[in-house]
Amino acid sequence: TWTTTNVVEEQIALIREQVGDKRAICGLSGGVDSAVAAALVQKAIGSQLTCVYVDHGLMRKGETEQVEKDFVAATGAKLKVVDAEKRFLDALAGVSDPEQKRKIIGREFIRVFEQAQLEILQEDGPEVAFLVQGTLYPDVVESGGGTGTANIKSHHNVGGLPDDIEFQLVEPLRQLFKDEVRMVGQELGLPEEIVQRQPFPGPGLGIRIVGDVTKERLDLLREADAIAREELTAAGLDRDIWQCPVVLLADVRSVGVQGDGRTYGHPIVLRPVSSEDAMTADWSRLPYETLAKISTRITNEVADVNRVVLDVTSKPPGTIEWE
Ligand code: XMP
Repeated sequence: TWTTTNVVEEQIALIREQVGDKRAICGLSGGVDSAVAAALVQKAIGSQLTCVYVDHGLMRKGETEQVEKDFVAATGAKLKVVDAEKRFLDALAGVSDPEQKRKIIGREFIRVFEQAQLEILQEDGPEVAFLVQGTLYPDVVESGGGTGTANIKSHHNVGGLPDDIEFQLVEPLRQLFKDEVRMVGQELGLPEEIVQRQPFPGPGLGIRIVGDVTKERLDLLREADAIAREELTAAGLDRDIWQCPVVLLADVRSVGVQGDGRTYGHPIVLRPVSSEDAMTADWSRLPYETLAKISTRITNEVADVNRVVLDVTSKPPGTIEWE
């Protein structure tokens, strides 16, 4: 029978068997999946695990601090933070194709991990042979790993990996859906803020900018995203929606008027969806007052944004993320 206790015990045994007395590293993204995968492996092999958090500069506002404080406090895991913003932004410069962005981000992730591995290797201890990933069942299916499913997007933690990867993968969540992962996280004692967090893609805000990715655009999107999240939380809607990507249409401009002047700015798209497992989704019918508040605040507070639009497309035919 399926119980979270059984899943946890079974996975701990499997992880111990797979890793043996070697060491593992785990990339933390700030999301639920990697946090639960890391907590599970931490429980199985303790100090043989080092978590690596790559700040690729594509994170949302406050995300880095959440990993540094809340996750470490909850698990006691060893954490190494790598500031790789410049490296990622240089690699992404001028790239607007979504699949190319995903491949570049996936590749750079692995390069940074390999660098972190080298650094961890200089510390005394056994070989660092394993890389823990929070891959879920839907990630496996949508990257073409399931039976008879077309490759829809290269999820950075599956299809985006380069061929010359040097780690063996530990993927303890590979058979689970999101709601099950949350239950496992709860069972492991992770705090509510981490376990109930909305999904956030590994490639981060890099795939929420339609157009090429620059620091200025990221800063702008970070502001808009923080406002949307703040208002959704204030309205008590966090549990009603699955996630709400906020997307910057950097390649689109439209005419607006503000004060006495004409503006020619970018639109921000709100993409609130409800879903069970992200395989299918429906657009969320958010209250008009909440939408109005978000729209007013974003156009007032975020420079260069003069329009807020709502995505009313289900999945299918739209995917949840725009890229
Ligand atoms: P789509 O856009 O395919 O998204 O409908 C389905 C769910 O997956 C998340 N997503 C990702 N998660 N790495 C991840 O870890 C990725 O590359 C990635 N791409 C999309 C997305 O936020 C949604 O929850």
